[in-house]
Amino acid sequence: MKKELITLAIETSCDETSCAVLKNGREVLSNIISSQIDIHKKFGGVVPEVASRKHIENMNLIIQQALDEADITFKDIDLIGVTQGPGLVGALLVGISSAKAIAYGLNKPLVGVNHIEGHISANYIEHKNLEPPFTCLIVSGGHTYLVQAEDYTKYELVGRTRDDAAGEAFDKVARALGLSYPGGPLIDKLSKEGNPNAIDFPRVYLEHNSYDFSFSGLKTAVLNYLNQTKQKKEEIVVKDVAASFQQAVIEVLVEKTIKLAKERKSQKIVMAGGVAANEGLRNLMMKVGEDENIEIFYPSRILCTDNAAMIGSAAYFNYIKGQVSDLYLNVVPNLELKG
Ligand code: KG4
Ligand code: ZN
Repeated sequence: MKKELITLAIETSCDETSCAVLKNGREVLSNIISSQIDIHKKFGGVVPEVASRKHIENMNLIIQQALDEADITFKDIDLIGVTQGPGLVGALLVGISSAKAIAYGLNKPLVGVNHIEGHISANYIEHKNLEPPFTCLIVSGGHTYLVQAEDYTKYELVGRTRDDAAGEAFDKVARALGLSYPGGPLIDKLSKEGNPNAIDFPRVYLEHNSYDFSFSGLKTAVLNYLNQTKQKKEEIVVKDVAASFQQAVIEVLVEKTIKLAKERKSQKIVMAGGVAANEGLRNLMMKVGEDENIEIFYPSRILCTDNAAMIGSAAYFNYIKGQVSDLYLNVVPNLELKG
C-alpha cells in the first residue's frame, strides 16, 4: 500500500453538501461545507425534496472547491468515500451517484460509509493519538446511540433512543420557545444565562440497567409547562426553561455514558454528533470524567456537525481493513451501525 493515501469524501445525508480531501484518515487537506440551513429555516426543519435539489445544484462546485483548497487534482485521488446512510434517501442519492461517477472515471476504490461511524471518526481527526477501544456517545439530530467501540470499524450497540433523538428534542423544544431552526445551539447559548434548577423537568432513565434513552416525555413536560404558565398568565422566562430542559437532557446522557464506561472498565469516553457541540454536555462530561478518572474526547464544533472530513476518515479505516464497496453500492436510509 502507498504510504500516503489521499481520500476524497462526500457527505449529503441531510442539509449539508460537503466534500473533503484527507491524507491517511487523520489529516484534513480541505473540508468544504455548504449549509442549507437558511433555506430550510423558514419551514422550521429540513424539507427532504428541497435538500436533494440543493445538493444537485451544489455538488460539482463543492467537489471542485475541495480539490482546489487541498491543492490537488482528480488524478491525485486514491480512494473515494461517501455516506451510504442513514439519512434522507434523495439527499444520499446525490452524493452516492457523484462518488460512483468519480470512482468509475478514475478507476479507484469506493467505500460506502455509515454516517454514524463518520461522526465517531471525527474524533480520529481531532485527536491524533486516539485509538479504540472506548465508550462512545453519539448524539445528533437524527440519532442517539451509546456504543462500545471495539475497533475502528467494529461496534457493540448498547443503547439507543426509543423515540426522539437528543438533537431532535433540542430542536422541538426550541421551536416551542419561539427560537429558530436548528434550536440546539440557541438553547445552548441561552442556558449559559438561565438557571438549570428553575424548573424540575423529569430525568427519564427507563428500566433499571437500561442503556436506552427517551426524550419525548421530557419534550411533552416542557410543552405542558409552557401551556400551564401561559394559562396562569405568568411570565415564561425562556432562558430558565432552556437551561432546565438542557440540564435534564445532559444529566441522563452523562450518567448513562459514565455507567457504561465503568461497567466496561473503559479508560476513554468519546462524544460525537451535533449535540456533542453542546457546552453544557461537554462541561458536565468533563467534570464527571475527572471525578471517575476517565479521559473525555470530543471533536471541535465544526467536526461535530455534518461534514465530509469525518466520512473520509471512516472510509480510510474501512479501506485499510479491506472493506471496499462496488459500483452497485446503494443508499440505505436506515443503515445500522455494524457490530
Ligand atoms: O450531527 P448533526 O449535524 O446532524 C445529524 O446527523 O443529525 O446534528 C444536528 C443536530 C441538530 O439537532 C442541532 O440542533 C444539534 O445537532 N446541535 C446542538 C448544538 N449544535 C448542534 N444541540 C445542542 N447544543 C449545541 N451546541
Ligand atoms: Zn450527522
